[in-house]
Amino acid sequence: MSDKKATFQIAGQDPIELPIHSGTQGPDCVDVTGLYKNAGLFTYDPGFMSTGSCDSSITYIDGDKGILQYRGYPIEQLAQNSSFLEVSYLLMHGELPTQEQLSHYQERIMHYTLMNESLLRFFEGFHHDAHPMAMMSGVVSSLSAFYHDRVDIQNPEHRELSALRLIAKMPTIAAVSYKHNTGLPILYPRNDLSFTGNFLRMMFGTPCEDYVVDPLAERALDLLFILHADHEQNASTSTVRLAGSSGANPFAVIGAGIASLWGPAHGGANEAVLHMLAEIGSVDNIDKYIAKAKDKNDPFRLMGFGHRVYKNYDPRAKIIRKVCHEVLEKLADKNNPLFELAMRLEEIATNDEYFVKRGLYPNVDFYSGIIYRALGIPESMFTVMFAIGRTAGWVSHWMEMLDDPKHRIGRPRQLYKGEKARDYVPMDKR
Ligand code: SDX
Repeated sequence: MSDKKATFQIAGQDPIELPIHSGTQGPDCVDVTGLYKNAGLFTYDPGFMSTGSCDSSITYIDGDKGILQYRGYPIEQLAQNSSFLEVSYLLMHGELPTQEQLSHYQERIMHYTLMNESLLRFFEGFHHDAHPMAMMSGVVSSLSAFYHDRVDIQNPEHRELSALRLIAKMPTIAAVSYKHNTGLPILYPRNDLSFTGNFLRMMFGTPCEDYVVDPLAERALDLLFILHADHEQNASTSTVRLAGSSGANPFAVIGAGIASLWGPAHGGANEAVLHMLAEIGSVDNIDKYIAKAKDKNDPFRLMGFGHRVYKNYDPRAKIIRKVCHEVLEKLADKNNPLFELAMRLEEIATNDEYFVKRGLYPNVDFYSGIIYRALGIPESMFTVMFAIGRTAGWVSHWMEMLDDPKHRIGRPRQLYKGEKARDYVPMDKR
């Protein structure tokens, strides 16, 4: 704890000293917990532009330098050397696993990939064209009904078990949602396959023949899960922390995170990017859409561009862009018009003063959809893919919060701008 202080002076009042906390990396934080008690004031920060909501040791981001680290390890090194399961272990436990720890962890995860048979029947209630995010959100939250009496969130072992169950079941729920949309029969998980290979088989395999996992598709998808695994206190992770702070069931809490991720300003952007590219249609139309994006009277924004934290290139977008080339080279048509259009749009936008001045660069969602598309995954499943990876981060933050003895229920205040006190008006006087 640093002994730095900030002095807060309000006209006509004695100055107030506020403690300043320093982390191991990143900006210091002014502690305002005593501000209301000592000065009768709230802080005001809609959208939390300058507000730290918690202590965390999981992920560090430097938006100006384009830095992303999971437990101190640079995302570029994890992307190059790790696997999604190893990264999910790292996020939860804080250290890279030994081979023995990883093998045991993988066995436990694969053991929980099955869904309760009565939960499978939930899908029969969805219309055939139900959006997969709606099915995932509903089914994950419904897991509360299956484990509610076996989740004592004060018990660390129960917390870890819930986390493993959630990481393990997300691919199964995703694949069953996809098969519900296609009307094709589901495949049950296979524990002898990798986490991502098993997912690909459940998605694209049929009972009629053996499914052979394509190593390039498996590696590309596993890498995308790594890149989406965590990202500090983003909207959906903050939703998970706030929902979890009331002591709610972990499955309901992750259901809340899924709901928040679905928004096009957040995880829904990858699907919105593909819709936008289809709407732009050709390189000739790019200037028209760039103009629309700048027009304050036009709600159109360049999906996949901009970020609350990164005012430089999103390091994940750099990695994904490279994988895009490889996947399209080998798995899809090399001159994929969408990819050509995306690269041209990126080139024009990142050289345009409006975007450069506002630090609007491609983010993680700009290229990921093109890879998903090349792997045969439909646009409606793109945010579901994001949720599979992000579940590792969500459960890690949920556990970190509950492990903190200082944690308490989150309850922000407000700047009230409504009516002052007034008396009820009887109906005949209105
Ligand atoms: C994710 O938080 C995370 O970490 C999220 C995420 C994660 O891993 O969890 O990284 C994943 O959600 C990535 C972001 C995906 N969303 C999109 O690609 C949607 C398009 N982007 C925008 O909606 C926007 O950039 C946000 C939501 C991402 C960020 O919004 P901010 O920080 O609130 O920025 P802002 O809206 O205040 O914009 C600042 C300026 C404004 O112009 P001025 O008022 O200064 O003139 O930039 C403009 C905005 O109009 N602007 C854009 C733009 N994004 C911002 N203009 C055109 N196109 C855009 N995409």
